[in-house]
Amino acid sequence: MNEIKIFCPATIANLNCGFDILGLCLEGIGDEMIIKKSAEKGIKITKITGANLPLETEKNVAGVAALALINYIAFKGDAIKHGFEIEIHKKIKAGSGIGSSSASAAGAVFGINELLGKPFSKHELVNFAMKGEVVASGSEHADNVAPCLLGGFTLVRGYNPLDVIRIDAPSELYAVVLHPNIEVKTSDARAVLHPMIPLKDAITQTGNLGGLIAGLYTNDYNLIGRSLKDVLIEPLRKHLIPNFDQVKNTALQNGALGSGISGAGPSIFALCKGQEIAEKVALAMSESYQNTGIEFDIHISKINPEGTKII
Ligand code: HSE
Repeated sequence: MNEIKIFCPATIANLNCGFDILGLCLEGIGDEMIIKKSAEKGIKITKITGANLPLETEKNVAGVAALALINYIAFKGDAIKHGFEIEIHKKIKAGSGIGSSSASAAGAVFGINELLGKPFSKHELVNFAMKGEVVASGSEHADNVAPCLLGGFTLVRGYNPLDVIRIDAPSELYAVVLHPNIEVKTSDARAVLHPMIPLKDAITQTGNLGGLIAGLYTNDYNLIGRSLKDVLIEPLRKHLIPNFDQVKNTALQNGALGSGISGAGPSIFALCKGQEIAEKVALAMSESYQNTGIEFDIHISKINPEGTKII
C-alpha cells in the first residue's frame, strides 16, 4: 500500500468533569486526509484545503505528530526507506472546540502507521498524536486525540506514562453540539485557568468524574446526568462564549442529561438519552442562539465507536 485516504472524526473533550482527561468521538463530522509514501525522506505537507494553516512541517500539528512517530522509529534503530506526503482536507473549523487540531494529528499518525504495516496499536499512536497538540495549545494533552483515534469515550488515567482507557458508549447516548462561528484559541482559553484549585472543588470534581465513569459502565443515564458538572473550568471560561449560560440552561430544561463547554470552546455540547430528546434539545439550543446575531451550526451525533478509519 502506497497511499491511503482516511476519515478523522471530531471529538468533544473535557465533558464537564474531566478536564484534559476525558473525551468522546463524534459521528459524521470530521476531516479527510490522504497520506502517500514518497521517495524523499521525511514529512511533507503538500496540500491543505478548508483552512488557512501552515504547510511547514514543524508548524503544522499533523507534521509535528508525524515527525514524532518517524523520529521514534529512527531512534529505535529501524530505518524507513521513504518519506510521507500529507494532504489535509479540513471540515472541522480551527478553534471550534471539537478537536480540529487533534483530528489532523491523529490522522497523520494513523495513516503513516497503516502505510508502515501497523507497527503500533491505536493506543500507542496516542503518544505521537499528542505531540501535535503542543503546536495548537502549548501543552501535550490527549483528551481529543485519544477519542479521535480510538472512538467511544476515552479516559486518560495518567500521562506519565500515558495510560488511556477506552469505554464503550451507552447505546442510546446522543451528543448535540452548537458551534458559534467565532474562534476561541485553545491557548487563550488555557491562559484564563488557575494553576491551583481549592480542595473542596477537587472533591466535587473527582466525585463527578467517578460518577460519570460508573454511569458509562452501567448504562445509568441518570447517574451520567448527575455527574456532568464542572466546578473548576467552566466558571473561568464561560465568559469567552456569548450566551453560554442561556444555551446550557435551555438544553437542560429541554431534557438534556448535561451540557457544557466542548473542549476549550466556543462549541457548547449537550448529552441526551435518545434521538427524540436530542432533536428537541438541538432545536431549543438553536432557537436560544438565534437572538445573539452570531452565526452558528448545530450537529446531532451518536457516539462514534470506531474513531479514525480508512475510507
Ligand atoms: N482539554 C483541552 C482544554 C481541550 O480544554 O484546553 C482542548 O484542546
